[in-house]
Order: sequence, then C-alpha cells, then structure tokens
Amino acid sequence: MKSSSQTSAPLRTNAPEPGVSRTAHSARSLLARIHARRVPHVGCVLWLVDMEAARSILQRHDLGAPWLTRSDHRRLARIRDPHERARRAATYVALRLVVAHLLGPRFATAPMLRPRGKAPYLLGVPAVFNLSHSGSLALIGVARRGRIGVDMEVKRAVPMSDRNRARIVDAATILSRERALVPHLDRDVLQAWTRIESFSKATGRGINRTLADFGIRAQQNPRWHTPGTGVADKAARQLPDYVVRDVRLPAGTVAAVTRTLAKP
Ligand SMILES: CC(C)(COP(=O)(O)OP(=O)(O)OC[C@H]1O[C@@H](n2cnc3c(N)ncnc32)[C@H](O)[C@@H]1OP(=O)(O)O)[C@@H](O)C(=O)NCCC(=O)NCCS
Repeated sequence: MKSSSQTSAPLRTNAPEPGVSRTAHSARSLLARIHARRVPHVGCVLWLVDMEAARSILQRHDLGAPWLTRSDHRRLARIRDPHERARRAATYVALRLVVAHLLGPRFATAPMLRPRGKAPYLLGVPAVFNLSHSGSLALIGVARRGRIGVDMEVKRAVPMSDRNRARIVDAATILSRERALVPHLDRDVLQAWTRIESFSKATGRGINRTLADFGIRAQQNPRWHTPGTGVADKAARQLPDYVVRDVRLPAGTVAAVTRTLAKP
C-alpha cells in the first residue's frame, strides 16, 4: 500500500515515459482501466469518473503522469489537500484521455487555459469541455462546438428556505421541462440547482450573476437588470440559444448539461 507521502508526491511533467504510449487506443484502454464510464447523452459526450478509484489505479501503476501538462500542474499546485489534489489530477487525466479518444492524441496534452471568472478551455483543441466534481465523482462533458456546462451533485440534505427552494425550482422548470420538480424534495431542488449551475457554466456568467439574472438573488450591478415579472419570466428571457437537459446518472447523484443549440 502507498503511504500518504506518496499520495501527495508531486506529479511529473508530461514527457512520454519509455514504454508509455499516448495513442487513442491506449487512451481508450486506460479509461476502461480506471473504470471511467461513458454516460449516454444526445448532443455531447459525457464521462463519469470515480475520482477516488481512478486516483488509486493511476498512482498504483504510475500511469497518469504522461497525460498531465504544465497547466494541469499549475492548477493542481493550488489545491492544498494532497488527497484532493491527487483526485483532481485523476479527473484531468481522464479529461485528456477522453480528448485523445475522441480527437486523437495530438490534442490530448494541449495547454489548459483558465481565464479569470470564465470556463477553462484547451488551447487549439477543436472541442469544448466542462467539468463538475461532487463527492468522489467527476462528470466530464465534451462537445465538438458551441458552449457546454455540466453540473453534478451528490444527493444530500439541502438547508434552504422554502422561498428559495421555490425560486430555484421555478427557474429550473423554465430551463428544462423534461421532468416536473417539487420544491419540498431535496432531490428535486438539487436537480434544479444542477440545471441552473450548468446553465451558468455554459453561458460563462457565473452562478452568482445567473442567480441575480433570474431574480433569485439581488442584482449587484443595476446595469445587469433583467426585465421580467418574476423568476420564471426572467429565466425564460435568458434561455434562447441554449438547451438544458437532465442527465441520468447512478442512484445517489443528479446532474444536468447545458449546450448551445445547433444553428440550422
Ligand atoms: C466556478 C464555478 C463554476 C464552480 O462550480 P462548483 O459547483 O463549485 O464546482 P464544479 O465542480 O461543478 O465545477 C468546477 C469546474 O468548473 C470549471 N469552471 C471553473 N470556472 C468556471 C466558469 N467560470 N465557467 C464554467 N466552468 C468553470 C472548472 O473546470 C472547474 O473544475 P477545475 O477547477 O477542477 O478545472 C461556480 O462556483 C461559479 O460560477 N463561480 C463563479 C462565482 C461568481 O459568480 N463570481 C462572480 C465574479 S466572476
């Protein structure tokens, strides 16, 4: 068994190791080896990663390092908890394996840029991605074009006022009508939240501003005022060009994906 100091050992750069092949085939087989699961979904590619299981396998066999870039290491260096850092590293490896599998290995080690307050992106890669982590799981979404936001939440108690539960469900019901949500059920409030958060990640407006745009919280900047008579009306005015869908995941989790609509 590895010691905790090994768990927190700095990860190396992405120079290919002797005997390590970075091909689409090796990416596919490594995704299988870390038990990453493709989640069926129309319009984008989704993969669910058990970060804890992936971390353990990647570290035990020293398989992750060739896929991580300097930009990943810079992001990882900002995560203080060594265990969380190793789990997050496993997610970034999985993302790069998905990119290699979909687009070819030459795109898999592109630098990841993280503009302040905006979604990270892979420089020069002809695809967009978004990540969400909750509990020990991570959800990775990749689309060939447009914008994408994903959000996943592990089911849990939601300490929130009845008023805010109702507002969140009202907004989420406008974003996606595929399943009616009930404000007094924690599971439904979390589902509603994932619709809103995935929307905010796709638009790039951030969760705070999105909640304000929808009239769920106070708008900090009067110039950003959204016209409309209530939460549902304000949310509807933000929606054109985007499609929001719930994602079917294993029991114990809820998730949603927002994408830009394909132009005819
Ligand atoms: C950053 C934010 C998207 C994180 O969401 P979260 O529920 O805490 O965490 P999740 O695990 O679902 O998502 C985190 C991932 O989203 C991605 N992300 C980070 N910022 C993002 C943004 N602005 N838009 C879209 N995706 C973003 C990253 O890949 C991140 O994971 P990583 O750091 O490991 O790469 C969300 O809290 C947010 O919108 N914050 C902005 C707050 C805000 O409104 N600030 C106003 C001033 S900018």
